Amino acid sequence: MKRKWWQDAIIYQVYLRSFKDSNNDGIGDFKGLTSKLDYLKNLGVNTVWVSPHYKSPMDDNGYDISDYFKVSKDYGNIDDVIDFIEKAHIRNMKVIFDLVLNHTSDEHEWFKAAKNPVHVDHHKYHDYYIWQTPKYDKQGNRQMPTQWRSWFGGPVWEYNPPTNEYYLHIFSKKMPDLNWHNDNMKRDLKDVARWWIDLGVDGFRVDASNHLEKDWSFPEGHPGYEYFSSLPKHHEYLEEFGVEVFKPNNVMAMGEAGGATKEEALKYCGFENDEFDMLIHFGHCWADCDDSNHITPGKWSKGQIDVLHIKKSFDKWFKMLNGDGWNLIYWHNHDHPRVISHYGNDSVYHNESGKMLAFCLYMMPGTPIVYQGEEIGMTNVDYHNLEDFRDVEVFTEYDNFLSFGATHEVAMQALRDRSRDNARSPFQWDATKYSGFSTTKPWMNINYNYKVINLENQLEDKSSLYNTHKELFKLRKEEKLNDGVLEFINMKDKNTIIYVNETETSKFLIITNFTTHKVIVDLDIELTGYRNIMYNYTARELLPKMKLLPYEALVYKKEK
Ligand code: NOJ
Repeated sequence: MKRKWWQDAIIYQVYLRSFKDSNNDGIGDFKGLTSKLDYLKNLGVNTVWVSPHYKSPMDDNGYDISDYFKVSKDYGNIDDVIDFIEKAHIRNMKVIFDLVLNHTSDEHEWFKAAKNPVHVDHHKYHDYYIWQTPKYDKQGNRQMPTQWRSWFGGPVWEYNPPTNEYYLHIFSKKMPDLNWHNDNMKRDLKDVARWWIDLGVDGFRVDASNHLEKDWSFPEGHPGYEYFSSLPKHHEYLEEFGVEVFKPNNVMAMGEAGGATKEEALKYCGFENDEFDMLIHFGHCWADCDDSNHITPGKWSKGQIDVLHIKKSFDKWFKMLNGDGWNLIYWHNHDHPRVISHYGNDSVYHNESGKMLAFCLYMMPGTPIVYQGEEIGMTNVDYHNLEDFRDVEVFTEYDNFLSFGATHEVAMQALRDRSRDNARSPFQWDATKYSGFSTTKPWMNINYNYKVINLENQLEDKSSLYNTHKELFKLRKEEKLNDGVLEFINMKDKNTIIYVNETETSKFLIITNFTTHKVIVDLDIELTGYRNIMYNYTARELLPKMKLLPYEALVYKKEK
């Protein structure tokens, strides 16, 4: 395959709402983002992925789109978008937009017509969505078609009295699912993508891409995820979209899907496939859930970190795609807690664990995605009032926790540890009021620690997390680390991740301790010729047996 630009990319994910506010209304926007392009360029990233910027009632911060062709007033206007794309391109940076194909907002014109039987376009759009008539129990009470549960914690069905039907929404009730059996709907979505391609975007991140097909026999199930996730037919839709839209226009596409077999992985992002170029999967995420917790269950239950799980996932994906496809590597996005609070240590070992996580990820082969604020070690929020949270998911789940027996404090702790809002608080540029993000109170509160953790504090400090990330990205490019071959050492060890990334010219050995205690590692590999090029405590000679300090991390290089 001819080499593609995205194989040399270092992607930076911008959560637009919280990146930089230019007009001081407390909400990040395109002008703010454009004003920070030089910051991003200087950091060493060369591609920017922007979270959804389309017109939206913002029930799910823009993943609920009411007009795909309009820019949300919160973020500016179309001229601001064009200007952003141009200025990124002048700097040799690529632009990736989010593309939401699974659902619209309930305020989209299609849905307004679909739900209203007297709307002039009702017949045209009703079938753009997924409807089912009610069931009735013996007493004649109306029942939902199934007991399926949405990803945000409530039922997937919402009753629409004018048609006496339920519509399906696998996320919030303001996000009705689109019907991919409808050819006109598919044609309209393809036109949306082409319209943005004509404007100059270089790629898309395709939201919720494994949910497009549903089991139309609507079997009973609770939560029933297997009936609306990863059904085989979604590959057909993605392939069709790829063949007709992405490939002929030469734009990059990265999908989003939770888990895959080798066969599926190759369908999604094998070099020979027509669906995507790369895949955001979640194999290494949430590797610390406590299955015995039934009060704040699932991803909400914070348990012991399972380091084996993390390395097995990276290993599995590298092996599945090795030579046949291309890996994306990342720690987290806007749907997860901050990685330093999640897999690192955001108090005593903030700097050490932040560097350890950076070495561990950014020395691996593949195309990396950096999430905004990760480069300065932004941490989880410390909100103590439910009203401080913003995410639609938080409120349904909070009620669930109480109904499962959690106290208010236990529920709040789960939100602080695990909610998506952790990754969404405004960027901490400096120590001024509102952290240099805005001069007005932002749409969600700045993290309590912004006076200590902010970019300005780190710019001149050679040992800061910011400068460590910058150094890593430079090394990545110079050494062509994206292209290397990954081999894990000591696969069975529960505390450390140790691997070699072998490039054409060198071997890099990365040693990382994921714990707050000292651990001894045995290195049963050929150790001669390695030089210590990066460390988070002090430089160390490579030895067959080493005692690592808490979160210690070392990078060694050997020329071939
Ligand atoms: C995945 C997105 O990353 C998430 O933020 C969103 O809520 C869902 N898809 C629904 O669009």
